[in-house]
Amino acid sequence: EAAPAPGTGGELCFGGQSLKALARTYGTPCWVMDGGVLRTRCQALAGAFKAALSTPLPDGRSAVCCHYAVKAQDSLACLAIAAQEGYGADIVSGGELARALKAGMKAEAVVFSGVGKSDSELADAIKAGIGQINVENEGELERIASLASAMGRVARVALRVNPDVAAQTHDKISTGRAEDKFGIAWEKVPALYKSVQQAEGHSALRMVGLAVHLGSQIMDPQPYRQGYQRLAQLVRQLHAEGLRVDEIDCGGGLGIPYQGEEAMAPQAWAHIVAETLGGLGARLHVEPGRWLTGPAGVLLASVVEIKHGARDFVIINAGMNDLLRPALYDAWHGILPTTLPAPGTPLHEADIVGPICESSDIFARNRPMPPFKRGDTVAILDAGAYGAVMSSTYNTRPLAPQILIDHGQVAPLRKQQSVEALLAAETMPGWLLPGQR
Ligand code: LLP
Repeated sequence: EAAPAPGTGGELCFGGQSLKALARTYGTPCWVMDGGVLRTRCQALAGAFKAALSTPLPDGRSAVCCHYAVKAQDSLACLAIAAQEGYGADIVSGGELARALKAGMKAEAVVFSGVGKSDSELADAIKAGIGQINVENEGELERIASLASAMGRVARVALRVNPDVAAQTHDKISTGRAEDKFGIAWEKVPALYKSVQQAEGHSALRMVGLAVHLGSQIMDPQPYRQGYQRLAQLVRQLHAEGLRVDEIDCGGGLGIPYQGEEAMAPQAWAHIVAETLGGLGARLHVEPGRWLTGPAGVLLASVVEIKHGARDFVIINAGMNDLLRPALYDAWHGILPTTLPAPGTPLHEADIVGPICESSDIFARNRPMPPFKRGDTVAILDAGAYGAVMSSTYNTRPLAPQILIDHGQVAPLRKQQSVEALLAAETMPGWLLPGQR
């Protein structure tokens, strides 16, 4: 449902629009998001969890809340679509808090995770009255307590548990092993939880529950099952000590089949959550990012040059500064020409590379491709998650524009950054101005 499809005249279409025509209008490189796909995926995932956890909590609240992981695709329009679909936000910075609130997310539906939250970010979150702050260590608890108390507020906190489970994903996006920097070692959780909850009323903290996030691009049910079982054990232990656990945040991480691999469906994830953590009387939270947004976006680029030699290189005008995933994680992304080759066109293996001065600036190696000529456009697929958000201006390449297709309309989301704007953010020390030497 998410992949671009052939349209009439052999042109690749996305969101019902010809990608080649969009490239002509908006230039390349250019990020394209399909609001329809994002909406459908928001509904599918929330629907799976609502079906698996259909019994409301004793107090009448719904048993599950979905939070859109802002870090995966942070444009205000995508956040607004998620909010319309009933999602809250999973944020990791004060900047993401500002975005979520501006896009219409309710503060109480915001959860804040992250290992290095600053005082000012925490203060903003407490002031806004967000749903919960997932705390990473004792020091952070102390800072939240003193900030909240100075404001005369009570902050809702949860402990982020490090369950010591390997997510069996890329090393750089695995977060739940003991050696990863995230969370509180699970053995230390009960004592800390107890001390904070028992001090309620005398402190500015309310201990509402536990949180876990195992990693990203998880394709296998096993790590989820292991991590959640460990969390359930902890919850039972806390209950046995007479403590309350109101909220359990199950994190995100559901993977997508970039290369046609077998992937878990949201139903399977929801089923594991319900099986391991349902029936504990807590409200469950999930924080998906990639699964919602990845297939909802493509990156358009144009062929700048073709170079034949020891290998065949197709040089495009998008680089690792735009889409970093292949360079950083050796990630595989589908790449399609926006004009589909006639049936029977022979394919040749080529390397699709960017213009950046680094050999890691490669989008595909030995990829069977139809012949290209200068000016042809290509679409890099599944680029909606961790694409535009991870762009940089390396090599003084301005940030590429973003557009949204929604309800049959095309709207610009972010203008192409100009080199002038990039330079205008810099100042030249007076003594270095030309003519001052
Ligand atoms: N919750 C927390 C606490 C997280 O750290 C993350 C992602 C998520 C939720 C959302 O995970 P998702 O459902 O999107 O897998 N840049 C990497 C991915 C980094 C993920 C970081 N944390 C990539 O391009 O593959």
